[in-house]
Amino acid sequence: MDRISIIGGNPLKGTIRISGAKNAALPLMTASLLTDQPLTLTNLPELHDIETLAQVLEHMGVSLTHVPSSHEIILKADDIHDKEAPYDLVRKMRASILVLGPLVARTGYARVSLPGGCAIGTRPIDFHIKGLEQMGAEIELEAGYVTARAPKGLKGADITFPLVSVTGTENLMMAAVLAKGVTRLINAAQEPEVTDLAHCLIKMGAKITGLDSTTLIIEGVDSLKAATHSILPDRIETGTYIMAAGITGGSLLLTHTDPTLIPTVLPVLMQAGIKITTTKDTIHAEHTGRLGPVDITTEPYPGYATDLQAQIMALMTIADGASIIRETIFENRFMHVPELNRMGADIQVKGNTALVRGKKFLKGAPVMATDLRASVSLVLAGLAAQGETVVSRVYHLDRGYEKVEHKLRACGAQIERIQGEASDDRTYAS
Ligand code: EPZ
Repeated sequence: MDRISIIGGNPLKGTIRISGAKNAALPLMTASLLTDQPLTLTNLPELHDIETLAQVLEHMGVSLTHVPSSHEIILKADDIHDKEAPYDLVRKMRASILVLGPLVARTGYARVSLPGGCAIGTRPIDFHIKGLEQMGAEIELEAGYVTARAPKGLKGADITFPLVSVTGTENLMMAAVLAKGVTRLINAAQEPEVTDLAHCLIKMGAKITGLDSTTLIIEGVDSLKAATHSILPDRIETGTYIMAAGITGGSLLLTHTDPTLIPTVLPVLMQAGIKITTTKDTIHAEHTGRLGPVDITTEPYPGYATDLQAQIMALMTIADGASIIRETIFENRFMHVPELNRMGADIQVKGNTALVRGKKFLKGAPVMATDLRASVSLVLAGLAAQGETVVSRVYHLDRGYEKVEHKLRACGAQIERIQGEASDDRTYAS
């Protein structure tokens, strides 16, 4: 397995182009199952997760035209001959569960491996299942698979989410698009990736309202048409690279992004002392001197994103003072703590709260990535640490950050990939 070696201490200076959002691209790809017409997605990030989902869809019979590094994919589900998403593929990328809603809505049948837990939590899908049952699907859970049957189609229903669920909202919104009648999703997720999916579905002919509220109203239609959709910028990659400027005392211009996608994160980073100026599609972040401490609690959008929790923890390890970081979304999302402490950080965890006492500097060390966002927090720490940091299990990184070492090296980072032997005893998160 590959590793990444970083010699820390270089302030990053330069321009980074932000890629399309991974967590928008995945549901958008599964939306192709809702119609036999072609769906063209542009600004596609080139990531392992995208390749894995492409394999799942091809397995089902979706024809894909995807020229690697073209950042574009055309999907056409006019011949779905296998309505099953097998365990071996789903285990690699739990977001494969997003085929469940569109597949049962379009064909009346879907059999999808239960995604199982991962490093950051048990990751249940009970909301997805209960919602489909309310829409009239017969659900069977056996041998680690969920089978959904709706031979007469799905019907609209009022569905309330006990907790805000991003993919739960996406799965049921897609199912509702072809259901008979009106579906209301109450306490729906408002993440920008959910809104981006809704915008694409509306282009395909879906009738969805309530996008600026927590109740989505979907009026079912008989069929959808072809569409072309540009995937919105990745707000998590954006926040990560702003923090890369902050932790290295550098100056980065991020392009092809959208500052309105991180309304809570930007003020927090400015409070930490990072100087941020924005235009419609760029963010300039620079920092000199010491960082100040911040307290954050992760929350559903528009609150502080849980996917940026590990990153700000890395930033705070060298701030002047103590920071409190509370994780309220997932039950086990502090795996990066022991790894950061190996680098000299002073972080204490009690329950879902971490107390980060800022140090003058970190020291490079061999560390291990455990999930996608934890892995990038170790890279951030390595960029600032004295000496060499080697991050292992970087396949986690490749799932969500396009060409991370190229983008950082182009801005002056001393970072390189150490090719490892191929092996697939990988554990997958998120
Ligand atoms: C999405 O995961 C993202 N993944 C995650 O990003 C992100 O961390 C998460 O939303 C929260 O923002 C994708 O979009 C592909 P949830 P998702 O359903 O949808 C509980 C990354 O790093 N819950 O919003 O799986 C659940 O346990 C990944 O890119 C149920 O109890 O998360 C959690 O506590 C990591 N039952 C909370 O809700 C359910 O049926 C929120 O989970 C569903 C969820």
